[in-house]
Amino acid sequence: MVLATLPVLAVLLARAYAGSVHSRATHSSIVLENGAEFGAYHPPTTFEVFEAGIDTPLTARAEKRSFKDNALSFLHDRLGSEAVQYRSGYEGEVASHVYVNQHFHGIRVSNAMANVAQNKDGKITAFSSSFLRNPRKIASSTPKLSSQQAVARATAQLGGALIPGREIHLEYLAIDSGNVELVHVVPVEVDGLRHVLAYVNAATGDAVSVINQSFDASFRAIPPSLNNPNDGFSLIVNPEDPLASPNGWTTINGVNTHSTNGTNIRAIIYTTKATIPESSDDVWDSTWDATVQPTVSANARAAAINSFHLANVIHDITYRYGFTESAFNFQGNDPVIVNVQSTITTNNAFFSTAPDGTSGQIDMLLWTRTNPRRDGDVENDVMAHEWTHGLTTRMTGGGVSTCLDAFEASGLGEGWSDSFADWLAQTSATLKDFELGVYVFGSNLRTKPYSVDPARNNYTYSLLQQSSNDPHFFGELWAELLHLQLDALVKEYGFASDAHTNPDSTAGNVVWLHLFIDALALQPCNPTFLQARLAWIQADANRYNGANKCLLWGVWAGRGIGINADSSHVDNFDLPADCQ
Ligand SMILES: *[C@@H]1O[C@H](CO)[C@@H](O)[C@H](O)[C@H]1NC(C)=O
Ligand SMILES: *[C@@H]1O[C@H](CO)[C@@H](O)[C@H](O)[C@H]1NC(C)=O
Ligand SMILES: *[C@@H]1O[C@H](CO)[C@@H](O)[C@H](O)[C@H]1NC(C)=O
Ligand SMILES: [Zn+2]
Repeated sequence: MVLATLPVLAVLLARAYAGSVHSRATHSSIVLENGAEFGAYHPPTTFEVFEAGIDTPLTARAEKRSFKDNALSFLHDRLGSEAVQYRSGYEGEVASHVYVNQHFHGIRVSNAMANVAQNKDGKITAFSSSFLRNPRKIASSTPKLSSQQAVARATAQLGGALIPGREIHLEYLAIDSGNVELVHVVPVEVDGLRHVLAYVNAATGDAVSVINQSFDASFRAIPPSLNNPNDGFSLIVNPEDPLASPNGWTTINGVNTHSTNGTNIRAIIYTTKATIPESSDDVWDSTWDATVQPTVSANARAAAINSFHLANVIHDITYRYGFTESAFNFQGNDPVIVNVQSTITTNNAFFSTAPDGTSGQIDMLLWTRTNPRRDGDVENDVMAHEWTHGLTTRMTGGGVSTCLDAFEASGLGEGWSDSFADWLAQTSATLKDFELGVYVFGSNLRTKPYSVDPARNNYTYSLLQQSSNDPHFFGELWAELLHLQLDALVKEYGFASDAHTNPDSTAGNVVWLHLFIDALALQPCNPTFLQARLAWIQADANRYNGANKCLLWGVWAGRGIGINADSSHVDNFDLPADCQ
């Protein structure tokens, strides 16, 4: 009898989680493709706001306290000092914020949290808490299962695999019976693509709670390593990187806009200023028709979706490699605004940078050499080029965005932009020659392809002696040098196909992007080619203990920017003494 009723019970519980019995304010549920259903519990949360603010126990004291100490004194007063441990916080322009978790025996309760906001006068303006007042039973702080055993149990129950590169933590978890269980928190990939967190009871091995970490949006776009409509659009499912964009691409301050108005990127149709709403729940779809103008509404929609998708992909990649909030990226209060099919002019594309805290802006334009016209929004290398201006102008000089202004520095800026587009287009250890803008322009926008074949590109340092005043032309030298660096590194260390999300790989294309981004933060404001070269060498010393020093110098010296090159831009092919 008992056995026979079990399946029925399971179904009832499943329905209950879906909302009919438990409150949607405190419960969630998740159904996997294998039919298994799991719930999660979030204890009830109190929330108080105090308009002009209230004092903390420290306010009365004369000496100045940090926002963190001040907030903690309030939280200790309200919640007890033993239970409260600082998790994170920051000072914003108008308020500062402190986030804490409840602890027992020094172990964090995953779902019992509190936070306060305080104004510039150090007064508390908001306070919320889901701390447990009277837990019925708190499990022992010693796990019976090891983390490896917990992984085995989680993946067996969920039918998934551990997400590579993610760590397993031991935490407490409040469950809705009022008990507090000790759990291993295991990040699992289920159904081939979705990310969840499984909370595995450290005594029984049961997955007592599972939380959805996927924001499963789908975008019809040209895949990042392909280039333009001739290569085809695909419906790309769940591309949002859970580390770089933990709340997805379309959520701003916890609210899903259901449009291309997101926290990293805001894509708007320039003429109407409208963002693109989803086609159906978290799906952005539109069909590109190459036989009509790019401005017809389905094409404009497809263009905006492609720009939004690719700009976010690049945000997420560069975030993984170090272009984070603390490294002055575009995120939160300063997303990059993409003006899709901007009409400010034609036959070009622009990035307008601004210091950290203010949005950058990309204008994607129409190109008039063909009929129908062509649209930079659907040529991925054009977006990659423009977006990289944001990366290089923000990271050079520490977020001020005025440090790639001198002529030689602006040439480097164009070079990095071509070069990142080149990196993104490569799919194997045998590098393809790279040309920019071929779809919109009809042929390479640059004078030579980026190539390891000296018959196709033989530019050397002395190119800088030429009298051109186009920074793109001098950028070609830098992008060719970086193409050769990429080739040398992938020949040495191979090519990783998961480089977008795995910066820990030792493959050459991963090493290259680390050097690219690390060097930006090292170099001076308005660097010269010689200084950018030195920053690249130092980036290798910092991250890889100089393991690649002679390989990198080999490339520089091979194209005339050797150890004894100077500001006269005369080719010098010398290697450092210890690399000869
Ligand atoms: C997680 O949430 C997304 C977005 O709501 C949904 O599409 C997806 O099916 C959920 N995943 C699971 C495993 O239920
Ligand atoms: C995008 O969202 C932000 C924050 O909700 C809002 O202030 C802004 O007006 C929105 N912009 C557009 C174009 O929808
Ligand atoms: C570079 O190649 C061009 C042809 O593309 C050739 O005219 C020129 O002499 C070459 N320069 C050197 C230094 O080999
Ligand atoms: Zn440019």
